[in-house]
Amino acid sequence: MIITITALKGGVGKTTTAVHLAAYCQERAPTLLIDADRNRSALVWSKEEKLSFRVASEAGSHGLIKKYHHILIDTKVRPEPEDLKDSAEGSDLLIIPTTPNALDIDATLKAAEILEPLKANFKVLLTKVDSRTRNGREARKSLEEQNLPMFAQDIPQLVAFERASSRGMLIKDYSDPRSRMAWEKYKAVGGEVLP
Ligand SMILES: Nc1ncnc2c1ncn2[C@@H]1O[C@H](COP(=O)(O)OP(=O)(O)OP(=O)(O)O)[C@@H](O)[C@H]1O
Ligand SMILES: [Mg+2]
Repeated sequence: MIITITALKGGVGKTTTAVHLAAYCQERAPTLLIDADRNRSALVWSKEEKLSFRVASEAGSHGLIKKYHHILIDTKVRPEPEDLKDSAEGSDLLIIPTTPNALDIDATLKAAEILEPLKANFKVLLTKVDSRTRNGREARKSLEEQNLPMFAQDIPQLVAFERASSRGMLIKDYSDPRSRMAWEKYKAVGGEVLP
């Protein structure tokens, strides 16, 4: 399966989602994560060699693709509408992470406006949801009112994600009381992608 993680807004958890879903997919079949972002965030994450799957740059991925069953693509910040269209054509599924923040939700609605006429298979993932507020529930409600396809599982806001990433680790390998719960959330999202 080819899965592209993209969004019109930056900092919404694309790379975090790509890395953890790649770990989930790798548990089922050989998985390659292609880092198509010039910032090379996923490649930097993989430098510590603590990830369970292969990460390659776009240029470095050509000879590798045929060796892998699942391909995940982490994309650059603020893609042009044309980039979104290309991603839609080249993928089985587009995952659009968004935080409950109003600007991020607006950007998600704009992405949906581009993707819907293309009959693209896309699904919105709510990320960085602060469980102490109602923001997550309100964001889900407004996206559902617009009939956007959504993952049933949200990803909570946890500093452990940042800490794991700065150590080049997956959340499940990072020693923190909430790591297991956080990994279960990405596993549940993975289960919605590859049941
Ligand atoms: N669920 C979360 N809880 C808390 N922090 C998170 C969560 N997901 C991601 N982050 C943090 O938010 C920041 C942005 O996340 P990430 O790099 O995954 O987003 P991105 O969409 O790939 O960003 P960019 O647009 O810069 O590529 C990072 O510092 C990351 O560690
Ligand atoms: Mg990124």
